[in-house]
Parts: sequence; C-alpha cells; structure tokens
Amino acid sequence: MRVLGIETSCDETGIAIFDTEHGLLAHQLYSQVKLHADYGGVVPELASRDHVRKTLPLIQAALKQANLTADQIDGIAYTAGPGLVGALLVGACIGRSLALGWQVPAVAVHHMEGHLLAPMLEDKPPAFPFIALLVSGGHTQLVRVDGIGQYQLLGESVDDAAGEAFDKTAKLMGLDYPGGPRLAALAEQGRADCYKFPRPMTDRPGLDFSFSGLKTFAANTIAAADDDAQTRADIARAFQDAVVDTLVIKCRRALKETGLKRLVVAGGVSANKELRAQLHAFAEKIGGEVFFPRPEFCTDNGAMIAYAGAQRLAAGEQVDERVKTYPRWPLEQLKEPVSDCA
Ligand code: KG4
Ligand code: ZN
Repeated sequence: MRVLGIETSCDETGIAIFDTEHGLLAHQLYSQVKLHADYGGVVPELASRDHVRKTLPLIQAALKQANLTADQIDGIAYTAGPGLVGALLVGACIGRSLALGWQVPAVAVHHMEGHLLAPMLEDKPPAFPFIALLVSGGHTQLVRVDGIGQYQLLGESVDDAAGEAFDKTAKLMGLDYPGGPRLAALAEQGRADCYKFPRPMTDRPGLDFSFSGLKTFAANTIAAADDDAQTRADIARAFQDAVVDTLVIKCRRALKETGLKRLVVAGGVSANKELRAQLHAFAEKIGGEVFFPRPEFCTDNGAMIAYAGAQRLAAGEQVDERVKTYPRWPLEQLKEPVSDCA
C-alpha cells in the first residue's frame, strides 16, 4: 500500500510517500524559517498562507521523485492535530480533497504519534513495548508504548516544553529564530561546569517536567555575567547540560518504574547531539537500547506522517468526508487502528 503523507501543523510543509512493502519512496520538505525569522517566531497566518502555496507543488515533486502517478497512491494521511488550526486546515483540506478526487481512503494522523513512530523508518526499528521520550517545541512527554495506538502517558511538562525552553533561552541570548539548534551549536563551544543550572523536579518523585524556571535562571545568569563570546557559550552549555541531565534522569526513572529497557526518543530536541550522546551512554550502562530517528526526521517532516498513516490505513482505519482538525488533541485519546466512519 502506497500512502501520501502531508504534514502542515506548524512551520514546515512536509510531504512523503511511504510504501508498506518497499519503505519510504519520496520525501520533500519546505521550511518556513526565512518567512518567520523577521518576527522572531512563527506567525500563524503567514504559516497557513505559505502551506497553501507549497503543499501541492511538493506533492507533485514527491510523485516525481518516486516516479509515480496519482493513480498509484492507495491512501492519504494528513496531520489533523495538535498544531496551529489554520496550518492544520490547509493539509487536512488538501489531503481530504485529493482522497475524494482520487477515490482513496484518508486518515487523520496525530502529529505526536508521527514523531513517536519516526524511528520505525530506520534500518533497525524498535520493537514494542518501549518508553518514548517525546521532546518537541510544544510537548515534553514520557509515554509507555505497547503498540500502535496503545499509549499511556507517564509524565509531561507542567509548563514549557523542552524545545520551547531552548527557543526562549536562545531569544534571551539574542540568538535568531529558530533558537534551539543555534543555542545547541553555541553550547558546543562552552566549557563544562562554569555555571550550575538547576535540574528541575528531579528532587521529588514523579515523571513530570518543568522547564520555565530554567529560562528565568538563564535570564538572571545572563544579566549578571560578562557579555563576551566565551561566557555566552559557557551559559549556553550550562543551560543545555541542565535540560539534558533532567531528561536523562526522568528517562532512567521511567525505565526503572516500568521494568522496560527500550527507549525511543523523538521530536525536534531529539536532534540534540548532547542528548543523543548522553542517552546512548546511559542505555549502554544499563544494558538497554535507545532509538532515535535520523536527524532530518527528528524535526517535523512528512515521512513520519506517511508512516503512521500507513499503519492505520493498512489496518482498515479511515475518516469520513468531513474535514476535521484537532488543534488540541491528547495523545492518550488515540486508540488502536479502527475505522471511525463505519
Ligand atoms: O518537532 P519539532 O520540529 O516541532 C514541534 O512539533 O514542535 O520541534 C521543534 C523544536 C524547536 O523548539 C527547536 O528549537 C527544537 O525542536 N530543536 C532543538 C534542536 N533542533 C531542534 N533543540 C535543541 N537542540 C537541537 N539540536
Ligand atoms: Zn513536531
């Protein structure tokens, strides 16, 4: 079964074609970074309009890349939430309309399920059950995953997401949008232990996170410090070390509490080199395994949506003709693949 995936939940237009027999056939990505850079963050209305401009040309490019024609597509998967409502509506309208026109089934994909399943696109995919650490710009969650649609939320951020904390701290340091990767790059020049940031909520039991205090701590540290390049890098390093340490501590706890030894890490922050290195070292230490998507599939992309949608479509799930989006959509509400228009 060949599935066209459409991702338009935020500031990336991602299109891909996944074949349940032959794997990923095409993958196209357009980032709106330049469009939003002047504003220091994503402007929702501009994002929607740009998705309108880019989605169809990228679908054509993906078909060309896979050397396929439209009549060789067996189903369509689009991100229906969570995300920016206008941006979601673009992908949902185009996906649903093409499915009607091409007379193939369509399925509404949860963006975080897409992230969670992205490591399945790699040569060595994880087996169920596992613990997933989802770290994106909007979510920080620890989830027990027993199969597709079998998700138990173990903990989540009570305020800012890890990616959001990276972005806000980067802004405080005067780094351009998108700040997270820039802050991570600056941290690579920083020296360890020049500044000590707290590891929030690690001194009490539980698997929830809180990252908004780190941003305030960073603001106070920046205000009191010199403004030379090395000091800025040292502060970036201290901030990153605090986020990474906190995430590693909570992953360790989640694995211990559930007795599992398999960890999946996905979402934009899973591209962070230090987080990857620390979690690899930790997994080796406990005789466990850790799985990441390749860096380009850590951040938003169409491949993860095509993959997640293909699993649901192949199991017979599909949506009816209505175009529905779910800007707020708790992951735990997902069920195992089923048809909801019967
Ligand atoms: O998954 P994603 O592309 O979009 C959402 O679903 O939110 O994640 C984007 C987030 C942003 O906050 C970005 O700053 C962060 O991921 N990010 C990083 C890195 N690359 C992306 N944070 C830290 N280190 C990175 N290398
Ligand atoms: Zn995302």
